[in-house]
Parts: sequence; structure tokens; C-alpha cells
Amino acid sequence: MTNLAQTELEKLFELARQAAQHSYSPYSGFRVGAALQLTSGEIVTGTNVENVSFGLTICAERAALVRAVSQFGPEIRISGVAIANRNGLASPPCGACRQVLAEFILPDAPIFFPAADGVRTMTFSDLLPLGSEMKLK
Ligand code: THU
Repeated sequence: MTNLAQTELEKLFELARQAAQHSYSPYSGFRVGAALQLTSGEIVTGTNVENVSFGLTICAERAALVRAVSQFGPEIRISGVAIANRNGLASPPCGACRQVLAEFILPDAPIFFPAADGVRTMTFSDLLPLGSEMKLK
């Protein structure tokens, strides 16, 4: 795992919790926030934005990622992620978010998220094995 200290992960988690305050989730009521630690030192947050056409909903993790690239450019690299929700439930990143994060994340990056058995930290490569092996050239 890349060496983000526990205190840094806790700060990231708190920022994710704060981001969840902005959740637009009138359909599920599930308020999620994500915070991305970039290797440049910047932190970028996002929240879930739902849509009446359910499939167009964007998760907190992808909202944060799109924001990070828009703000800092395509060279960004993510060295840690925290996910939080305001519902006291498990919210590991969904499969779509794992696939999208794979473009920009270090395989060893810790992912800090609420799981069924409490808050867990797993490396990205444990969450998405072979995530960096899909290549087009
Ligand atoms: N959601 C996220 O934003 N991130 C997760 O990790 C889990 C799910 C959102 C999508 C949708 O707005 C709501 O939570 C219910 O699935």
C-alpha cells in the first residue's frame, strides 16, 4: 500500500463525509461523498448526483474523478481514496467506479470505505484485480 498515514486517511474520510452533505439524491436518499488524494498533494472531492432516468446517476467517486481531471488535467495520479456516506451503511465503490478509477490510480493506493463490518482499507488492486492490464496498444 502506498504510504498515506492513518491521519491523512482520516482527514480524507472527513472531507468525504463533508462532500456527502452536497449529495443530490432525491430518489435513493443515499448520500455519498468521495475524496481523492492526488500525488501532487491536492485533494478533490465529489458527491453523487442522481437523475430521474436512474441510469444517468453519477456516483460520488466518478464525480470527484471528473472534477479532478477537469481542474488539474489528464496527468493526475490518485494515491488514495476515501468514501463516506450519511446513511450509516456500507458503500464500497461500485464496479463502474472501480473501472473508471483504474485509469488514474496507483495500484497500491489505499481505498478507505464503509463496509458491512466497519470502515475498511483495501488497496485498489485488491478491489480491481488486473485493473491496469486492459490496454488498447
Ligand atoms: N453511490 C455512490 O455515489 N457511490 C458508491 O460508492 C455507492 C453508490 C450512489 C449512487 C446512487 O446515487 C446511490 O448511491 C444509490 O446507489
